[in-house]
Amino acid sequence: DMGGHDTFMHKEICEQPDAVDRVLRGRIDDRFSTVHLGGLNLDPREARTIRRIKILGCGTSYHAGLIGAGLIESMARIPADAEPASEFRYRNPVVDPDTLYIAVSQSGETYDVLAAVQELKRKGARVLGVVNVVGSAIAREADGGVYVHAGPEVCVVSTKCFTNTVTAFALLALHLGRIRDLSVTDGKRIIEGLRKLPAQIEEILKTEDQIKEIAEQYAGAQSMMFIGRVRGYPVALEASLKLKEISYIHAEAYPASELKHGPLALIEPALPTVAIVPDDDLLEKNRAALEEIKARSGRILAVAHQPQAKADHTIVVPKNEDELDPILMGIPLQLLAYHTALAMGRDIDKPRNLAKSVTVE
Ligand code: F6R
Repeated sequence: DMGGHDTFMHKEICEQPDAVDRVLRGRIDDRFSTVHLGGLNLDPREARTIRRIKILGCGTSYHAGLIGAGLIESMARIPADAEPASEFRYRNPVVDPDTLYIAVSQSGETYDVLAAVQELKRKGARVLGVVNVVGSAIAREADGGVYVHAGPEVCVVSTKCFTNTVTAFALLALHLGRIRDLSVTDGKRIIEGLRKLPAQIEEILKTEDQIKEIAEQYAGAQSMMFIGRVRGYPVALEASLKLKEISYIHAEAYPASELKHGPLALIEPALPTVAIVPDDDLLEKNRAALEEIKARSGRILAVAHQPQAKADHTIVVPKNEDELDPILMGIPLQLLAYHTALAMGRDIDKPRNLAKSVTVE
């Protein structure tokens, strides 16, 4: 049942305020400015001994894991990184007893992720899951974890589950942070930010008509570039994946800082750039990248907290805490991919060559 929407993708994009509300519900502890994660199965003493966190997933879940790694590093100050699960499996990785492994999956059935979890467990590692489907294979195989509570996701491409997975990582990062060095004040600040998310997502969804108008102008492009820095880079990766999956426009994502090391050669009027430009300590750096693109007559669509003078269009999103901004900045880009694909007459819920869950190698 599409509930009055034309596609499941649109329905699922619009469900995000409720979905995020669900992942937060019953988990916030205001007394200690932390969160409770019932199924984590990691006691505080163990949590203090973790030296490193490795996050594994595929596709959109990998991108959510990249943002998750950043959240864990900044809030819990534990070195963390994400890697595609299939790459990890095939490179005979060093499995370190002080590392906590986290498998990320919407379906909980993705074979490459499941196989990585099984290999890790065989070698004695501790593996948690950040999973949407309750009781799925990865959820059962993991030692514990966090359910994402996005609800059923029918569209082949993931939207609400991405947003909820990143939010679940924010909860995990806050939890680990408050056991380690994150102050009460910072804990409170993050909790206030988390509570604002559903209403802010609602605000973004209200700008859909404007995003649709912009999307229609980019719908004819052969190729598009997505750039961001640090927290914004995984947002660029995910936006680029979403666009290519449903519109079949070629897209690539680069860290904005890497432009001058090669991809700047591609910039010309026919290659539009989508730039993630949050109002944070990297704002001036990001603006410099926009200038470099404009100097090569590149068209720019910025996703930012205030209109960007160098951009041809800006989608303005509400500001949250710096750490949580990536959650909000991803949402208009789901709508951008959606309306671009729609303008091109694509079959949005069933993109060619793709399956919802990849249970083969
Ligand atoms: C992208 C998409 C895929 C999945 C990937 C992992 O829109 O849907 O890239 O994210 O196949 O699937 P899960 O999260 O079920 O393990």
